[in-house]
Amino acid sequence: MTIDSNISYQQTTQVTLASYPDTYPSEENFAVNTVTLPALQDGEVKIKHTFLSLDPYMRSQIAGRHVSGSIELNGLMFGEVVGEVVETKSAKFNLGDQVRCMGGWQTASIQKDSAVFAIGNIEQPSHALSVLGMPGLTAYAGLIWQAQPQAGDVVVIPAATGAVGATVGQLAKANGCTVIGIVGSDEKVDYAINQLGYDACINRKTQDVEQALDKLCPEGINIYFDLVGGDLLHSVSARLAIGARVILCGMIAETNSKERMAGPSPGMWIKARAIVYGLVVYDFEPRRQEFIDACAELVNANKLIMKEDVSVGIASAPAAFSRLMRGENMGKVIVKI
Ligand SMILES: NC(=O)c1ccc[n+]([C@@H]2O[C@H](COP(=O)([O-])OP(=O)(O)OC[C@H]3O[C@@H](n4cnc5c(N)ncnc54)[C@H](OP(=O)(O)O)[C@@H]3O)[C@@H](O)[C@H]2O)c1
Repeated sequence: MTIDSNISYQQTTQVTLASYPDTYPSEENFAVNTVTLPALQDGEVKIKHTFLSLDPYMRSQIAGRHVSGSIELNGLMFGEVVGEVVETKSAKFNLGDQVRCMGGWQTASIQKDSAVFAIGNIEQPSHALSVLGMPGLTAYAGLIWQAQPQAGDVVVIPAATGAVGATVGQLAKANGCTVIGIVGSDEKVDYAINQLGYDACINRKTQDVEQALDKLCPEGINIYFDLVGGDLLHSVSARLAIGARVILCGMIAETNSKERMAGPSPGMWIKARAIVYGLVVYDFEPRRQEFIDACAELVNANKLIMKEDVSVGIASAPAAFSRLMRGENMGKVIVKI
């Protein structure tokens, strides 16, 4: 069965990796092609993609150093999508169902039904890729389940207006914490304080971050939700309070370089009796619905907000991804297809 006899979605327009970037990716590293989809088999569904999520991990896949796999030269870029079932040979899905899957950077795909998930009680479909999707789950798992914030804790977050950071910051505020963001522009500082409700925010490009942290956190930092690695991890680790929790979640400061940076001295963590967690969101997949149930109401009531940085059309994905890698995004990067 197909959803519309006039539109059979027999083709898909794809973005593939045309060359490996040395450092920051640019549009020239990608190609756009249209190919014909194969016939649907039993147990499969055809999905018309409506939103594609662009995420920092894709740069690590290109570099061949991500836990989730690598992108081959001329291969389709991986990525999570939200879409609509337009043809089905599955007992699990009906025409018109709103679903998410790893459909990749393309306009439609055929998927085994075991790899497709209903978006369920999420009112705005793009939220299944942002605040109520993988980035939101990352934030919730790291802050609530790992760091276990207490009222009065001082929480420091870099990339603080991004998809993960903005969710961490708002959840920390909701738990009575003092939240200090670190961001890369004055526009983001303004957004963090006036829209996300942070207590303070530091511009890492124009301010002395260490001096600002000394002033803002005189009793030390209780939770550092590290999304960037690099120099900031060192600066914050030197300012931890006793019993601090450090969530090692991302290392975007070195994602675009071939070399690895040296880490901070473990002595800083020993001195603070810190608990240091490595976070891989995939480990928390079995608890995804628990997280959605805890946060959906807050999102629907606009108490947990997520700015989405939306570009239009699959061909816009390479430029949007390049902007994300350069920190030029404002919120969760999504392609509307
Ligand atoms: N471990 C996991 O399972 C997991 C899951 C999801 C995401 N992550 C990681 O979490 C991090 C945030 O992901 P996201 O999707 O929420 O991205 P994002 O924050 O929306 O975008 C990335 C941001 O990183 C900041 N940045 C870029 N280069 C930087 C540098 N050299 N130093 C400091 N900050 C830099 C920029 O913000 P500013 O310009 O404002 O600083 C940029 O906007 C990434 O490192 C990602 O890989 C990990």
